[in-house]
Amino acid sequence: MESTIEILTSNKNHAIFTRALSFTEELGTNLLFKSNPDSFKNAHVTSMEQYSSMYKESIENPEKFWTNIADDFFWKYKWTGKFMDYNFDLSKGNIFVKFMEGGKTNICYNVLDRIVNEKKLGDKVAFYWEGNEFSESKKYTYSDLLKEVCKFANVLKEKGMKKGDRVAIYMPMIIELVVAMLACARIGAIHSIVFAGFSADSLADRMIDGQCSILITADGGRRGTKELDLKSVADVAIAECTEAGLVVSLCIVVKNIKTNLVDECSSTKRSKDGTTSWNSNIDVWWHDIMENVNDECECEWMDAEDPLFILYTSGSTGKPKGVVHTVGGYMIYTATTFKFTFDYHNEDIYWCTADIGWITGHSYIVYGPMANGATSVLFEGLPIYPDAGRMWSICEKYRVSKFYTAPTAIRLLMKYGREFVKKYDRSSLTVLGTVGEPINPEAWLWYYNVVGEERCYIVDTFWQTETGGHMITGLPGVTPMKPGSASLPFFGVVPAIVDEEGKEYEKTIVDHGFLVFKQPWPGMMRTLYNNHSRYESAYFERFKGYYCAGDGCNRDEDSYYWITGRIDDLMNVSGHLLSTAQIESALIEHSSVAEAAVVGFNHSIKGTGIYCFVTPKNGIRFCDALVSELNEKVRARIGPIATPDFIQCAPGLPKTRSGKIMRRILRKIADGDRDVGDTTTLADPNVVEELFKNKPN
Ligand code: WT7
Repeated sequence: MESTIEILTSNKNHAIFTRALSFTEELGTNLLFKSNPDSFKNAHVTSMEQYSSMYKESIENPEKFWTNIADDFFWKYKWTGKFMDYNFDLSKGNIFVKFMEGGKTNICYNVLDRIVNEKKLGDKVAFYWEGNEFSESKKYTYSDLLKEVCKFANVLKEKGMKKGDRVAIYMPMIIELVVAMLACARIGAIHSIVFAGFSADSLADRMIDGQCSILITADGGRRGTKELDLKSVADVAIAECTEAGLVVSLCIVVKNIKTNLVDECSSTKRSKDGTTSWNSNIDVWWHDIMENVNDECECEWMDAEDPLFILYTSGSTGKPKGVVHTVGGYMIYTATTFKFTFDYHNEDIYWCTADIGWITGHSYIVYGPMANGATSVLFEGLPIYPDAGRMWSICEKYRVSKFYTAPTAIRLLMKYGREFVKKYDRSSLTVLGTVGEPINPEAWLWYYNVVGEERCYIVDTFWQTETGGHMITGLPGVTPMKPGSASLPFFGVVPAIVDEEGKEYEKTIVDHGFLVFKQPWPGMMRTLYNNHSRYESAYFERFKGYYCAGDGCNRDEDSYYWITGRIDDLMNVSGHLLSTAQIESALIEHSSVAEAAVVGFNHSIKGTGIYCFVTPKNGIRFCDALVSELNEKVRARIGPIATPDFIQCAPGLPKTRSGKIMRRILRKIADGDRDVGDTTTLADPNVVEELFKNKPN
């Protein structure tokens, strides 16, 4: 490592850190940081040698490595067959992945009963719930949760829910969300959580795809000064399901914001006086049905390979993919990644700022931390409400030691300045995590210097909805940090980089290629719900014999992996994947639109922003009213998270003679980069200049 500059945190020379940024640029991949070794004296892994030998064992003998871990969990019956069985090669038959098949367990039992009864941690706080407002907070111990979950599991059973049935959940960040998902897991029902920022159409699409017969929601939720009217959205979604022939027989509503009930309200809108529309044929209040319910409930013993949940993620064709995770592998994988990636210890206070509606929340707010008996913060609000110091005030209040957020949140807070951070005591912090997209060096350095006071270890965790848990990540205090690289593979993970033809690069340094994985890990998805052929074609067709992550990737001289971004038509907006095709199809639904093309552009906070080129139909004037109608279309079809940043008029689109839209050129225009490259293959090269002229400011 000749050109490597090692900066020890004991070196408090600020100039070095300010210069670090330009070093990163100059040296590309070669800036190394180390965290304070004192914080990690008792770490689970204490040296790179130990990491290497554990890693070696984990991939050479996965059975031995994972069985040691699985033994700490409760199994009603141990598996007797193969520990791991799989086929990644389409030419040899269908793709499948199985771990511990035949073993019987229950993940709810393992994250609650086992923690309370075996680990004797019943009185330990599982969640400090912090509301949107400063004044609201509550705590829930493992014993509290066990009771609530059993009660709700009994409710679900009483309503006819059983193993294998799908339950849709559309809720704000409140404890009932955790209770609902664990109750499903307890009785073997498959939860399908839809992030509360999705629209009624998106919720309905997901409910229809998963054939969910019940929906659990809340009257509303609060995010900063905004109130989410979840029940009205749920009503519209249920009406859409009914139209599509899906019978939704029950809607359970948590009373989360103060509302008055209007019985048999025919309107689906929540009225101004704060009433909630109500259809007494299917709507029931959570608190009503939880009255006088038994707080003990036997677990349904599940096969390790039975489905645990469905979670939808964007697909390049526009139709979301229902990623299916199974009980056993997901359980041991989320538990183990949580333990090592955050170097979790019993006295830690952990906070992941994600929403449970995304995979980060499933794996690292609920299942992973709870399987370790951890104490977490569960936050309903927003990072900048009431001001940009909110996150750090929460860290101070609960003495958070391990903190996990996304680059987009860091960039947002950076804008408000360091004073908001400095106001609060952050001396409890030791590990800072990041997830969702490659972190830019400025944001990394700010996280490291300002938030972490040059003392904390930063774990950059690369993974996906599909992978269930961390894939490429450093280990606190052990892996030297390079800002912008997720570094090295987690135990059991075998990454590789292939070229266009799917040929694997053998050499260490790879300038550019495609990230793939060579063998399964326990937490990987098993199928796409009711669509195994799409599972095979989306992930295993392009590069034969590998799982294709869909990301571009480099590898440096230290074997560190550097993710360069998506290789498909998915945009990573604020750490969430959105499909350009899905936004395009929402736009062309508008009667004034002839054609639309959507691309990502560099956005200072979101990472990637959404830029839409719209060709109006002949004779239609492109005006502000049309733009707002188009915005509304996208919000209604997908949700506020997909709201375009720009919609520009495109009298013509840059197309090849065969009619293919050249997105490469549109991306340049969106970025305002005049260096568009070769335009000679365009049917009409003049459209490029025209589009630059039409660019909104
Ligand atoms: C895509 C997966 C996993 C939870 C959040 C996103 C990108 C994720 C990183 C990282 C670089 C990252 C990739 C990946 N991504 N983490 N640490 N460094 N890129 O889940 O919506 O399934 O998105 O997010 O492009 O493929 P997701």
